[in-house]
Amino acid sequence: MFVDKLIINGGKKLHGVVSVPVAKNALLPIIASSLMLNGETSINNCPMLSDIYASADIIRDIGSTAVFEDRKLSIFYADSDVYEISEELCVKMRSAILYLAPLLYRKQKINMYMPGGCKIGSRPIDIHIDGLRKMGAIIEINGNKISAQLPDGFKGCRYKLRLPSVGATQTLIMAASIADGITILKNCAREPEIVDLARFLNSAGAKIMGAGKNEIIIQGVSSLEGVDYTPIADRIFASTILSAVNACKGYVLIKNYPMEYMYLFENMLKKTGLKIVHFNNSAIVFKCNERKANIETHTGYYPSFSTDMGPLLSSAMVNNKGSLRLYESVFENRFSYFSQFKKLGLYCKVNNREYFQKLAKSSHNEVLYAEDLRAGAALVVAALAKNGKFDIYGINYIDRGYENIENVFVKLGADIRRISGEE
Ligand code: UD1
Repeated sequence: MFVDKLIINGGKKLHGVVSVPVAKNALLPIIASSLMLNGETSINNCPMLSDIYASADIIRDIGSTAVFEDRKLSIFYADSDVYEISEELCVKMRSAILYLAPLLYRKQKINMYMPGGCKIGSRPIDIHIDGLRKMGAIIEINGNKISAQLPDGFKGCRYKLRLPSVGATQTLIMAASIADGITILKNCAREPEIVDLARFLNSAGAKIMGAGKNEIIIQGVSSLEGVDYTPIADRIFASTILSAVNACKGYVLIKNYPMEYMYLFENMLKKTGLKIVHFNNSAIVFKCNERKANIETHTGYYPSFSTDMGPLLSSAMVNNKGSLRLYESVFENRFSYFSQFKKLGLYCKVNNREYFQKLAKSSHNEVLYAEDLRAGAALVVAALAKNGKFDIYGINYIDRGYENIENVFVKLGADIRRISGEE
């Protein structure tokens, strides 16, 4: 079997310029909802990520068109007699569930399978299903098979989400956009990626008001038209770079920096000695000395500290003489990296949803295993910051959210390379 690994000679300071790409988590729902738009939709600056390829595969599999050209993804919905998304494609990513509402609208019936994705918790889809049922869909779930029909189109309704799920809010915004009548959604997720989906759909003719707030009001329209769109910058990628500079020290100019979403993360890292200067659309991030800090925080729904940034905060602290106490509120299994961090000379303890970390001893050469996307990115940052030679496996997870992560850090002067080898 051929397995890729990253080889890192850690301990080097980072210097250079990096540009933040478009956010994967904004792109995925936008790509799915493009199937509801008539004519061609073009999405600009698409990073080449395995989740984006998987999205294009779903679109092609159901008989529509998805073409990449110079990082522009062009999508064109075409009627076909395909009424199923294959199990193989559904298990590739959690975002497969975002195709349920658009394909129900287009085809009136669709079969699919429980979505896969990173194993960071149980990740049910009950709110997507419950909300779509309220809007007129008939959905049966047998084992891992989802069979759905929409005999009479989506109907506007009032619906309160059981909890502010990002994915479920996106599903219901999509369905409500082309529903008959007005939909009022309460207890919605408020993440920037929700606001971006609404901005995208509104540019296509939808009437969505209040995205980014608890309550979203949507006046359904009869059709949506193809657009040319550039999604927002990736706040998780930006956090990865901040963490790396914080842990490795150095001086980096970050272009296309999504400043408005970064202040919580920035404020924590500033306590450890990171300096940040914002200007125009950019940030200069630099660190000369490590300042001991004890940080305690908890993740939560936006605008609280993002669950995806938790592992990155841990990696940012790997050379700090203080401690990190992190409480995870959103997913049950977010600390898969903790056994790997121990190998890097850290004392780490997980008690249910609480994680504790502090520096214990010096690092040595180690083999590390990534078990999910953000844990994988955290391992890369931690290995870059530690003295020693580290092999990292499981980079298929990292490829879901970072386009050639090694190239990002090579440009900043790190010693990191990817090797494909037979195991
Ligand atoms: C999205 C992000 C992911 C991020 C997460 C939380 C994408 C592609 N992924 O994931 O990176 O970590 O938001 O910010 O955008 N839940 C239910 N029932 C449901 C749906 C969700 O119980 O029907 C629960 C989940 O198990 C979890 C919580 O709600 O405990 C939040 O999940 P959700 O916001 O839906 O996350 P995703 O949209 O999957």
